[in-house]
Amino acid sequence: MPLVPMRALLDHAAENNYGLAAFNVNDMEQIQAILMAAEETESPVIVQASRGAREYTNDAYLRHLMLAAAELYPKIPIAMHQDHGNSPETCMSAIEQGFTSVMMDGSLNADGKTPATFDYNVDVTRKVVNAAHAKGVTVEGELGCLGGIEDGHGAGLTGAEAMKHLTNPVQAEEFVAKTGVDALAVAIGTSHGAYKFTKKPTGDVLVMSVIEEIHKRLPNCHLVMHGSSSVPKELLDIINKYGGQMKETYGVPVEEIQRGIKHGVRKINVDTDNRLAMTGAIRKVFAEKPGEFDPRKYLDPAREAMRKVCVDRMVAFGQAGQAGKIKPVTCKEMVAIYSRGGKK
Ligand code: G3H
Ligand code: 13P
Ligand code: ZN
Repeated sequence: MPLVPMRALLDHAAENNYGLAAFNVNDMEQIQAILMAAEETESPVIVQASRGAREYTNDAYLRHLMLAAAELYPKIPIAMHQDHGNSPETCMSAIEQGFTSVMMDGSLNADGKTPATFDYNVDVTRKVVNAAHAKGVTVEGELGCLGGIEDGHGAGLTGAEAMKHLTNPVQAEEFVAKTGVDALAVAIGTSHGAYKFTKKPTGDVLVMSVIEEIHKRLPNCHLVMHGSSSVPKELLDIINKYGGQMKETYGVPVEEIQRGIKHGVRKINVDTDNRLAMTGAIRKVFAEKPGEFDPRKYLDPAREAMRKVCVDRMVAFGQAGQAGKIKPVTCKEMVAIYSRGGKK
């Protein structure tokens, strides 16, 4: 089936009370790992590419790899999403490249670093919604800022500073009404990358109550959790066992994500866990077989390690078993649905 607009997947997830992992990709092996996991668990999937990923992979390679995935797995509904679009131009170029969903992250200015004003955020997000919906493409917006910094994207806020930039539930209502976004990413104390929390997070640093409050005010809005890798100790241990130097750190526990799913979270962004899994697998090969120089001999275990993480998350978030239950919708059909005010 053709790539589907992300909105179709989020709506099904909301109707059936589950969440969808959105996995970041930069190369063929990561796309393969996700689709292998999706086939095994019969899961619909969201595959996402950051600006950095598009630059690294090149849009043409990425587009063709995604079309190959759709051709090879005709029973799996796949949405292709631009992660952290920094400007309407980035989002429009993604749409031209065949992405079926875009994130306009107007919580930061176009530099991807400095926190933006509410008015700026509404303005750029509204622009993207108008243009994207005219093509049936889904839009995710973000209100509030995450902590940390990842590959040039992020305000670099420390834990304490990030607490001042949590999503304001009252403003969230206004933001969704003014922009018409399909999904809203919320800031609840998470950050991108491996170093999120210095101990298993409690409610003062991972503020799940913000999600509950927003969901009460916006019961029909699909919520998105960024920075939601769980950073399992087993994956850190493998890296360190084979010469890595990862420090002690904690991610977002899967049970907290499951709590979020009960309160309107439909998309959960996971990148770091897959990076850790692949790195550990590659280090193991290099340590155990230092004479090995065929890339397939380390990329295959890396892909397998990522596949396992994807399977675990797909099962934990409840998307497993849902692929065949979704009626595929095309972007063209979504245009008509949007013109009816969202009515199917
Ligand atoms: O936004 C965070 C994702 O992990 C993507 O990271 O910008 O290094 O590709 P990246
Ligand atoms: P992690 O770094 O926790 O995997 O978050 C990824 C993310 O939010 C991508 O947008
Ligand atoms: Zn993110």
